Amino acid sequence: MSARKIAVKFATVMFGSLVSIFFGGLAQLAGQQNSAPPKAVTYSRDVAPILYKNCVICHRPNNIAPMSLMTYKETRPWARLIREAVVQRKMPPWHADPKVGEFLNDPRLSDVDVATIDAWARTGAREGDPKDLQSPPVFSEDWHIKPDSVLTIPEFTVSGASQDEYEYIYVPTNFTEDKWVQAAEVLPGDKRVVHHATVSVVTADRGGVPGSMAGYVNIVPGIYLPGHLAETRPAGYALRIPAGSYLQFQVHYSNHTSEDVKDRTSIGLVFAKEPVQHEIAQYEIWNDLFLIPPNDDNHRVTSCFTLPKDVIVLAYTGHMHFRGKSMRTEAIYPDGRREVIMDVPHYDFRWQETYFLKKQFVMPKGTKLVTTAYFDNSVSNPQNPDPTKAIRWGEPSDEEMMGFWLQFADPKPVDEKAAVANK
Ligand code: HEC
Repeated sequence: MSARKIAVKFATVMFGSLVSIFFGGLAQLAGQQNSAPPKAVTYSRDVAPILYKNCVICHRPNNIAPMSLMTYKETRPWARLIREAVVQRKMPPWHADPKVGEFLNDPRLSDVDVATIDAWARTGAREGDPKDLQSPPVFSEDWHIKPDSVLTIPEFTVSGASQDEYEYIYVPTNFTEDKWVQAAEVLPGDKRVVHHATVSVVTADRGGVPGSMAGYVNIVPGIYLPGHLAETRPAGYALRIPAGSYLQFQVHYSNHTSEDVKDRTSIGLVFAKEPVQHEIAQYEIWNDLFLIPPNDDNHRVTSCFTLPKDVIVLAYTGHMHFRGKSMRTEAIYPDGRREVIMDVPHYDFRWQETYFLKKQFVMPKGTKLVTTAYFDNSVSNPQNPDPTKAIRWGEPSDEEMMGFWLQFADPKPVDEKAAVANK
């Protein structure tokens, strides 16, 4: 390596630590002397806080990630792969293009944190002084909300070493009146095997037949992704679960232990205690009329939807299966202005992310939402179950779906009578 290159790298690291000192507050700065030589990056002082904050929610014992990164001893052997994963931004998992939109649940590391890990792994991945180590985070294995109602799936056995198994499990709510949900949390029964879970409402008045799309309704009360805890709505915003509905749990199991593991995943619901002003709902915009030819590595499918009313936009979700490659949605406003609102350049079915907007905004009636998705039905897609098959729409994961979901709140207040807060 040339001296110049080293100098540039060194400058980056220095800049990195300066920025973190700056943000770390004046207290830290007070003890720092301008002439002090740069200290080597160590696990104890520099890297552990980053891992504690961003990684160990999944990378700890008995959780979904394949290895724990809680201690130096556990982390050291992974240094090279950790560096690669953070520099290439494969970890923490996040699939939206950072240039498009600002999202509440964006877990990406700052450039400074990436530079710190990079420097650490390249300079021997040293432990440093264990006295520098801050105390590790403590996680609650229990609810982060106080649920008024808990609905749980019947016990499900995930056989040893089974990869990527998707189960659809239906649970009756037995609600005899409509319920307004202000917060929801999905609690995995056994975190070693629940990769993620989403819960949707299946209403009785739409056929309500568990197991069929006929009664599927476009409301998602909760999602579990490791690291994504309770979903709490601002006061006055709630979503309605009609009396008699079923809940559909879609659970992605992945068992990297060698034993059978039993799971009972639950959803906890907090009902609105104050009158509901804005009902939360979701448009699920699908194209179900496509045919993806065998061995096609870049098949385009599009959809278009015109908003029938003004909506307050809350979140976006792109939904495809194993062959899904990318998805991009553009809004064409009634005044002709165009804006890309969601861009997922490297879609991964195993991470069902919903992108919650930092700033809600009103999208006017008449806005066109144009979604363009690409599918990879070739051998170069490692997740492809069968590149020799022509693929159409289908619910099982080895068939395909193409959907863009817009979660919104109705700007118009809910009918007073309907919105009597439930007890
Ligand atoms: C939301 C959960 C989650 C978070 C947060 C997370 N990981 Fe992971 N990580 C996983 C899972 C699960 C895997 C296994 C591979 C997969 O499913 O993509 C994994 C795999 C890895 C791997 C192995 C990659 C390989 O190529 O084999 C590394 C290294 C890694 N993570 C490092 C990190 C680091 C460093 C962070 C924090 C900056 C982090 N992860 C944050 C869940 C997570």
